[in-house]
Amino acid sequence: MIPPAPIGIFDSGYGGLTVFREIRRQLPQYDYIYLGDNARAPYGPRDFDTIYHYTLESVQQLFDLGCHLVVLACNTASAKSLRTIQQHDLPNIAPNKRVLGVIRPTTEIVGQYTKTGHVGILATSGTVKSQSYVLEIAKFFPNLHVFQQACPMWVPLVENNEHDGPGADYFVQKYLHELMAQSDKIDTVVLGCTHYPLLLDKIKQFLPPSVCVVVQGNIVAKSLTEYLLRHPELETLCSKKGQTSYFTTESAIGFDQKAAIFMGEPVQSQQLKIGASPVR
Ligand code: DGL
Repeated sequence: MIPPAPIGIFDSGYGGLTVFREIRRQLPQYDYIYLGDNARAPYGPRDFDTIYHYTLESVQQLFDLGCHLVVLACNTASAKSLRTIQQHDLPNIAPNKRVLGVIRPTTEIVGQYTKTGHVGILATSGTVKSQSYVLEIAKFFPNLHVFQQACPMWVPLVENNEHDGPGADYFVQKYLHELMAQSDKIDTVVLGCTHYPLLLDKIKQFLPPSVCVVVQGNIVAKSLTEYLLRHPELETLCSKKGQTSYFTTESAIGFDQKAAIFMGEPVQSQQLKIGASPVR
């Protein structure tokens, strides 16, 4: 018999916690393992092969910890690696396990928010370059006009706890200005990076109030709920004690301090050297 195990949640660092928090709020009955690859973050500026390699290693770690289902709570990893992992790697390394991403659930419903049909995507350079949002939105809403803006300074602001400070204002305004200059009809802006909800107040402050800002946590949590309902064979393999374990590839103490801010509660993580056993 295959033992049930926690659902794995992966991000390059802390950003995935904005998605995980909402998943756990909507699905509190399950157990979760969160893995942040903080030692190698940010992923956004890295090339395709590197992101794919890091993401696959991290997914393998979560499989080794027992997970049957892993959510890539990272747009950059979803954009650059998900399809290859699903189509190429899973059939070889774990044919009965599943890996899901965050881009598809978002692009499936983005058309519901816009009236003008002009949608802006704020994301890392890697996600923008992959064109994943443009290609996926075209599948579901072929008439939408999609405008992208890379925001390379936003993840470092969040990872360095500077997202609330006055220093963040300059870069928030800069990228929003560059996005909105691409079309004066943009009425919907997607935060296409899981770090960006930490900047939500500032983003709203510098956008016209009529612009709808789409945050992914709720969307991904609902999509996961529906996925588990559609796949009872996988759902029964998800353990249900309502417990969470956190792993980081960086120092556990540093992770705990920062993750507690994201989660609004104390966090106790273990350091996981990729390719080695957990150490505290
Ligand atoms: N949080 C990740 C995302 O959603 C990106 C952060 C990074 O650049 O590592 O894209």
